[in-house]
Amino acid sequence: MNDILFTPLRFDRGPALKNRILLAPLTNEQSNEDGTASQDDFDWIETCARAGYSMVMTCAAHVLENGKAFNNQLGIFDDKHEPGLRKIADIIRKHGGVSSVQLHHAGMRAQFNGETPNIGPSAIAEYNTRALALCEVEELRDAFIEAAARAERAGFDGVELHGAFGWILTQFLSPTLNRRTDRYGGPLENRVRLIFEIIDGIRKRCRPDFQIGVRFSFERYGQTFEDVYRVCEMLVEEQKIDFLDLVPWDVKKAVDVGPFAGRKMLEVFSQLCGTSVKVGTSGKVMDAQTLLSVFDYGLDFIMIGRSAILNKDFLSQVLSTPDYLSPKTPVTKHHLRQQGLSDAFIKYLANWNGFVE
Ligand SMILES: Cc1cc2nc3c(=O)[nH]c(=O)nc-3n(C[C@H](O)[C@H](O)[C@H](O)COP(=O)(O)O)c2cc1C
Repeated sequence: MNDILFTPLRFDRGPALKNRILLAPLTNEQSNEDGTASQDDFDWIETCARAGYSMVMTCAAHVLENGKAFNNQLGIFDDKHEPGLRKIADIIRKHGGVSSVQLHHAGMRAQFNGETPNIGPSAIAEYNTRALALCEVEELRDAFIEAAARAERAGFDGVELHGAFGWILTQFLSPTLNRRTDRYGGPLENRVRLIFEIIDGIRKRCRPDFQIGVRFSFERYGQTFEDVYRVCEMLVEEQKIDFLDLVPWDVKKAVDVGPFAGRKMLEVFSQLCGTSVKVGTSGKVMDAQTLLSVFDYGLDFIMIGRSAILNKDFLSQVLSTPDYLSPKTPVTKHHLRQQGLSDAFIKYLANWNGFVE
């Protein structure tokens, strides 16, 4: 099994990955109040980088102050964030990992402060959201590009655009949340324009070997599987990004409605493989058999989230012990502390249904 997993993953741009198992982006609410990285951030990143994940991605980092979704979220919208980010990139490099920052803006789902409305593609009363003016969409685009440039300056190998889970890039993609009539709304080609312009901007602004990934999910927020799949095809055709990170939340899931109904999501994702844009996924990989099944479908990489939290040695254990199984949740706080999690991270995990005892 180690043959597949330890075949380096080479990209057209930037460093190759030493293995096919990456750390998923994991929000942990442990940065300082102003979004600068804390000692807890450094310790957690070190725990994961030391564990051997070939790419270590940060938690979602907001590219504008008004895009914050979580308490004590990592920020990347100001020069004050750069020293902490540099330290994170240094730690990952020291352990032989490739580093990436996940770029995020919560849009209409930002932390509501009760006074100013949140921003989004369109005005939506239930979210207290006002529509961005055209020039503000351009500013948002530029904030993503500026954040990528900041990540580059801090020594990261690349960034991932967070286009999943209903955050602002999903909101633009969504035919129900995006009701604009300008060039960023209407047909799919317009709804996807923001993402494509951000990618173009990063390519112009950052060094040629800077890696760009894009993350998508396929459900909720008015999205259809086939629409998101079409966007993936467009990105693969364009060849301007280096990887697609597609999240079904459970790698065994099948598509439930539409033209792909009944087909395993991984089987559909595999149709996107075979070009310079590498394709990976994540979702409930708790044992070796499930881990390997991802590669049976021909995908290029797997990202590990919950199993990495539940056991800091998940990677070595799953590789050495064929019948290894991640600890069953809920687990105790004591257990999580032993895995190197901070009290802040454990407190955040307590919000996740059934995770912490
Ligand atoms: C505690 C926690 C925090 C997460 N934070 C993020 C995040 O910041 N950005 C993101 O795109 N996904 C986030 N996710 C989703 C994971 O990256 C991953 O895709 C998902 O958990 C499925 O993989 P898993 O079953 O291996 O955990 C989070 C998941 C968990 C459990």
